[in-house]
Amino acid sequence: MIVAYAPGRVNLIGDHTDYSGGLVCPMAIQLGTTVELEPGGDSVELESADDPTPAHFSLDIADAAAAAVRPSWARYVAGVVAVLRPPTGGRGRVSTTLPIGAGLSSSAALEVAAALALGAATSDPLRVAQTCQRAEQLASGVPCGIMDQLTSVAGVDGHALLIDCSTLDRVPIPMPPGAEVIVVHSGQSRALAGSAYAERRGQVEAAEAAAGVPLRRAGPADLGGIADPTLRRRAHHVVSENARVRAFADSLRTGDLTTAGALMTESQASLRDDFEVSTAVLDALVARLNAQPGVLGARLTGAGFGGCVVALAESGTAAGLTVDRATLVRPSGGARVLTQ
Ligand code: GLA
Repeated sequence: MIVAYAPGRVNLIGDHTDYSGGLVCPMAIQLGTTVELEPGGDSVELESADDPTPAHFSLDIADAAAAAVRPSWARYVAGVVAVLRPPTGGRGRVSTTLPIGAGLSSSAALEVAAALALGAATSDPLRVAQTCQRAEQLASGVPCGIMDQLTSVAGVDGHALLIDCSTLDRVPIPMPPGAEVIVVHSGQSRALAGSAYAERRGQVEAAEAAAGVPLRRAGPADLGGIADPTLRRRAHHVVSENARVRAFADSLRTGDLTTAGALMTESQASLRDDFEVSTAVLDALVARLNAQPGVLGARLTGAGFGGCVVALAESGTAAGLTVDRATLVRPSGGARVLTQ
């Protein structure tokens, strides 16, 4: 029996920057997904602790068929099988401590745990992440970047990760003592997230082509050549967000939590005004959190259009918060095989 575990993630800052090779600063969290698998056979059979309907599909499943597998959670595993092409399948079970579809990367955690249970080599974390990113794209049809899967694979206990998505280098940044990270679900489901995500990604690519310079290396002064005002704003978000991620990592390193929190709130304004992926509900929740004693900054986290808000706060803040659906998250280690 192989038991593989993979964590979810929260992104502290750097959203909609990964797919143009920008900077992100997420952390793996203490909640995650476990896949237990008895290897054998030429199909995958999985039960879920949260769904009475089991999944069953063949190892030679076609790429396109992965997106049609039922129940829908099994699509992510089918996507992994379609990309990884493991020689052996197995029977087993999936369980998770992550809220599903809340913006904490429950799908990435499932993909990574499934990939490890199906024999993906833990010695090559980047390859596992790239396999799972492709699996997510196949399963969901959303052209996601690599942040979620790479964070789940490569998380470091007690640290956030500064990831350069052009080189895929990861620098672990210790979370300063005295900091608390709180995730609050907005109650708004991310219904638009898929189609709007693809649209935003297309706009970033169009903006980059119009600017004539990779956004990763651009500054605000390089955006004058983008004639379309919407595309210019999209590019401005990406360029300013990359700068904020760098400044945020520096603030964590020096323990300057006040500046780190302010950068998160600036990121929210940019996601709202320039990138237009926030919602009235998310804006109100960020404002409400920022008004709580001990909260240093807050922003939406992940793709936007609903889902979760993340706040940076002084230690002890979570216990006194007067908002519902708040979870204290801790920077945690990445995916691992627990038994073999
Ligand atoms: C989703 C995607 C990531 C990233 C974020 C936005 O979580 O899966 O690749 O693009 O949205 O930062």
